Amino acid sequence: MTTSPDGEPESRDIVAAGPESPRSEVTVAALLVGAAVSAIAFIGVYSVEKFSTQHELMGLTLAASFAFVAAALILLGERVLPSEEVAEDYPEVAAPQEEEEVAKVMEESAAGITRKRLLVGAGGTAGGAIGLAALTPALSLGPWFEVAPLYRTPWRAGRRLVDDEGKPYKAEEIEQETFYTAFPEGSSHRNLGASIVVVRVDPAALMLPPERAGWAPEGILAFSKICPHAACAVALYRKPTYGPTQPGPALVCPCHYSTFDPGKGGEVLFGPAGRPLPQLPLTVDAAGEMRAGGNFSDAIGPSWWGIDMEQPH
Ligand code: FES
Repeated sequence: MTTSPDGEPESRDIVAAGPESPRSEVTVAALLVGAAVSAIAFIGVYSVEKFSTQHELMGLTLAASFAFVAAALILLGERVLPSEEVAEDYPEVAAPQEEEEVAKVMEESAAGITRKRLLVGAGGTAGGAIGLAALTPALSLGPWFEVAPLYRTPWRAGRRLVDDEGKPYKAEEIEQETFYTAFPEGSSHRNLGASIVVVRVDPAALMLPPERAGWAPEGILAFSKICPHAACAVALYRKPTYGPTQPGPALVCPCHYSTFDPGKGGEVLFGPAGRPLPQLPLTVDAAGEMRAGGNFSDAIGPSWWGIDMEQPH
């Protein structure tokens, strides 16, 4: 280290001052702003859901955002930041003087940049917008505040169970070892929450959760017919042909073979369904007809939320 005429240590530059390149800096800032605009466009396309080519547009906007960032970083490295190569053996012990020099190199490397605040601002904007774009798809996990539509179905306490021709089901007609499809009286069959499967099992074999103790009069149970995996209709019923050795009765979805145990409140026995089949409480009225005791135990439908539960008007 050299000293000044008055004896003070004199600081000398390590990184040679490079040529200033304000035009490149402005270009880098513009590219970063382009990245931010593209990321915000991605969020807009994701949210609006009005484009027939929504997926393509989402891919394009996100790709454009990353392309802008890549171009900005290349330009920053090539034209704005000075490049300094130093090759030396790695010291065995810490050398405070060398460490100071390295810190100085870092500091001086940015000395030639004339629009630091512009670049830092543009970089922060691009980083923030891309971060938001990365978080946006989490909205598809489901509504956070307005969840009531997920639970809205045509089933109410007292509503009669009818077949596809509108004829009410009587409890005495429901036999074991088969299953029936039922709908709420007076409701559109096309409503996703309308169709249910009805089965009768041996009441002694019921193992329902305690809070559903009264939901299966005479061993008759009802479940949503819509598979909670990917919304196929649960349309198969497995009945044991030789009880002592075979597994018990089960409702089966034919699409990917999710298998549900009616006696345990629709618990998943096998397959990709991630949650039980929602159960509908039942009652039998004085005339022996089947009626709903209320709404389902859980939201019906596939577990990717956001689908329309109601018929479009
Ligand atoms: S939709 Fe039912 S198992 Fe996949």
